[in-house]
Amino acid sequence: MSEKNTVSRRKFLGIAWGGSLALVFGQAAVALLKFIKPVSAGGFGGSIYAGKVEEFAIGSINRILAGRFYIARNEDGILAMWQKCTHLGCAVPWVEEEGQFHCPCHGSLYNKEGEVIGGPAPRPLDIFPVSIKSGEVWVDTSQPTERSKYDPSQVTDA
Ligand code: FES
Repeated sequence: MSEKNTVSRRKFLGIAWGGSLALVFGQAAVALLKFIKPVSAGGFGGSIYAGKVEEFAIGSINRILAGRFYIARNEDGILAMWQKCTHLGCAVPWVEEEGQFHCPCHGSLYNKEGEVIGGPAPRPLDIFPVSIKSGEVWVDTSQPTERSKYDPSQVTDA
């Protein structure tokens, strides 16, 4: 094997290694940018379309996955509640059979309006502002609001 071929192979391996490393770091950089990029409208942290008013029956609890919140409709109107447990932040599921939100982490229980009815949670589920435009329900997930109890003033008339 000539000296020229050896250098060539070394160069090739260097380029291959460099290219592989660049690809790996490039992918990591893209993933990091996606992670730290501010959330735009349409995703959690922005304004989320929840559905048409008529899709939310009075007395129903509806999970809106894209927004990480629940739409509860009662006689007063529509309430949007963040799914985040006010104890340590677990996602709280609505358990239809129990008729309550039941946090799987430490057992906090919330009623349909998100008030604490059991467990260690210090306050009701936080709420988001709701606006209704042409029969469509929109929720602004950029502004969670803490509360000490449910009050009809927290709902949006539907
Ligand atoms: S995080 Fe929900 S009860 Fe602890």
